[in-house]
Amino acid sequence: MMSKQDIWSSYWMSDNTAIVDTDSKFKELLRYWEFKFNEVQDGHNLLEVGTGNGRLVEVFKQFAKNANLTAVDGAKIDKENDAFKSTAQTTVKVIAEQPIETLSENENYDFIFSQFTIEYTDIEKTISKLTSVLSPGGKLTLICHEVGSILYNSAQAEVNEIDWLKNEINLFTYVHKQIELKHQRLASPSPSLYSEYKKHNRNYNDLIKKLHKYFEETKSAFFAVNLVDVIYHTIENMDHLPFEEVKQKIEELELQVNMHQARLNALLENALTTEKLTQISDLIATDLTITKSDLIYRDEDGQIIARVVEASKA
Ligand SMILES: C[S@@+](CC[C@H](N)C(=O)[O-])C[C@H]1O[C@@H](n2cnc3c(N)ncnc32)[C@H](O)[C@@H]1O
Repeated sequence: MMSKQDIWSSYWMSDNTAIVDTDSKFKELLRYWEFKFNEVQDGHNLLEVGTGNGRLVEVFKQFAKNANLTAVDGAKIDKENDAFKSTAQTTVKVIAEQPIETLSENENYDFIFSQFTIEYTDIEKTISKLTSVLSPGGKLTLICHEVGSILYNSAQAEVNEIDWLKNEINLFTYVHKQIELKHQRLASPSPSLYSEYKKHNRNYNDLIKKLHKYFEETKSAFFAVNLVDVIYHTIENMDHLPFEEVKQKIEELELQVNMHQARLNALLENALTTEKLTQISDLIATDLTITKSDLIYRDEDGQIIARVVEASKA
């Protein structure tokens, strides 16, 4: 049984990308963080919650502030990643496999920030923890998934597609048959995937195009995986391998797809609804002053990217 943290450990330990990436489609997020990090003062103590592959740590370090940054994540993450290396100015400390709810640091922080994480945690415990370790005068910034955002909608579309491929097309059963056929372990040929698609009125070429997209531009959990292409590609590249090895690779791929789907489902389940935002805001407002609750939009088409909640301690 996969735990909540396992789905992330497998993601970060296989060198995947974060949302705020160098050539990000969501440059407005990067701009937001640059603006926030620019406000940090020398000598500040910072805490990042749910650091993943440390992409935001990397962004922060560009500002060359004399600061201590503690980056926490509940999952197993790659602590050796360059992003986590301290610089002459910024000392970075990484705490992996540490759910934020039970963090037992004695430190206080001047700036606590988090992106797409708080909504996955036990909100009540997390907010209580964060408000207790925030220094007087300190600031808290949370970026969250919002229902209806670009990421939410693409996760929904992708989950539907994966469900369809798995349940309607029986993709993995098909692939296993196909491999057995290739290795002459099946007497009669299985139907071609092409005719399966035709039957379901899907555009096969579109699927293939999407598959290429997966290889070219996404190692990310947040953009469409195109299973068919991935699988075809995998099979093509495995022609020379022995049967058992091919079988094992396809099983690994199936596992990855299931984890990917679990991450997308977690996003869909945890994205902020109006009620959840109210719940978070009420919890924060018990000890802090909320200074902002806004949506971040994408410049090019005005679609929602995320919700930002900022608060400060008196
Ligand atoms: C959607 S990812 C976001 C990662 C990174 N902030 C980014 O924007 O790329 C969510 C992260 O939160 C972490 N996480 C989930 N629940 C957590 C918890 N209770 N405590 C600490 N980290 C948690 C996961 O391990 C994962 O790395």
